[in-house]
Amino acid sequence: MHKPVILVLGTTGQTGSKVLAHLDEAPGDYAIRICSRRQQQVDEWTSRGRDAVRLDLDDPATFGPALNSVDRMFVISGYTVDMLFQIKTLVDAAIKCGVSHIVHQGVFANWDTTDPHFIWHQLVESYIKASGIAWTHLHPNYFMENLLGLTALQKGSFPMFVNNKAVGWIALDDVAAVAVRVLCEGPQKHSGKDYWLSTDSLTGDQAAELLTDVLGQTVVCDHKTPDELATLMQGAGVEPNYAAGVVDFMRQVIDGRMAYVATIRDDVPYVTGRPSISFREWCQQKREALLQGI
Ligand SMILES: NC(=O)c1ccc[n+]([C@@H]2O[C@H](COP(=O)([O-])OP(=O)(O)OC[C@H]3O[C@@H](n4cnc5c(N)ncnc54)[C@H](OP(=O)(O)O)[C@@H]3O)[C@@H](O)[C@H]2O)c1
Repeated sequence: MHKPVILVLGTTGQTGSKVLAHLDEAPGDYAIRICSRRQQQVDEWTSRGRDAVRLDLDDPATFGPALNSVDRMFVISGYTVDMLFQIKTLVDAAIKCGVSHIVHQGVFANWDTTDPHFIWHQLVESYIKASGIAWTHLHPNYFMENLLGLTALQKGSFPMFVNNKAVGWIALDDVAAVAVRVLCEGPQKHSGKDYWLSTDSLTGDQAAELLTDVLGQTVVCDHKTPDELATLMQGAGVEPNYAAGVVDFMRQVIDGRMAYVATIRDDVPYVTGRPSISFREWCQQKREALLQGI
C-alpha cells in the first residue's frame, strides 16, 4: 500500500521542529521528508538516515526535486513579507508535482483585518485555496513560546507592547499536535477546514501573576510601547516590513481595532481529542527554561 509522503518545512524553527517531533511519534505509516535551505543541514540529516532535501523558499529551482512524490505538506514561512512570493511559487510547484494536501500555518486574523502582516497571510491562504489543492489553514494566536524567544523572560521581567490589553495565547505543542493530526488523517477529513488556536486569554499582568505562582519567584510584565518594539526588532535584525507589520499589530490591539485577538477560540480538543495546554500548564512544563530568566 502507498505510504503518504509528508514534507515538513521549517524544521529548524520553533514550530516546525515540534511538528517533526510529533510526526516522528505519530502512529501510522508515513514517509517523512524534511528540508532546509542549507546544504550542510541537509547532509547532516541525511547522514542520520533521514529523507532530507534542499529547499530554499527564495529559490524556486529547488522546489521540483524537493516536492517530487510528496502527497501532503506542512507549509510555514519565516518572519518576512517575502512569504508572498515564496509561498505563491511553492504552491505553483506543488500543483505541478501533484501534491494533494497543504497544511498551512497562518495567524489569528479576522477576515477584514487591517494589519499588514496578517493580510499577507490571508493573501497566501487565498492563493492556496484557489490552487485546487486540498487545504487546511491553522490560525495560531500569540505563541506562549514568545516568552522564551525574542520577548523572553529576563531578570524576572518580560515585555509586552499592548498597554496591558489581553491577547489569546497558544502553546506550540498544541499547534504541532493539530498540524500532525491533520497531516496524518489527510484531506478526506480536514480539507477546507480552518482551525483556530487561541486557548487562554490573558493580559501581560495576568500572565506575570501566573508565572509568579508557578515559578515561586516574582515575575513582572514590563509594559513597553510599540515604538520600543520597533527598536527591539531592528536590533534583532527582523526583516523591516515584517517588523513594521508587528508594530502596527500592537497599535491596533491598543486602539481596539484588533481587540478580537483576546478571543478564546480553541479547536485543539476537536482535532486532537485532548484538552489544550493552558498557560499555567505551559509554565509548569517549561519551568526549568523559564527559571533561567529569573
Ligand atoms: N510568534 C508568534 O506569536 C506567531 C503567532 C502566530 C503565527 N506566527 C507565524 O508563524 C510563522 C513563524 O513560525 P516560527 O516561529 O516557527 O518560525 P521560525 O522559528 O523563525 O522558523 C522559520 C523556519 O523557516 C525556515 N526558513 C526561513 N526562510 C527560509 C527559506 N528562504 N527557505 C527555506 N526555509 C526557510 C527557517 O529555516 P532556517 O533555519 O534556514 O532559518 C526555519 O526553519 C510566521 O509565519 C508567523 O507569522 C507567529
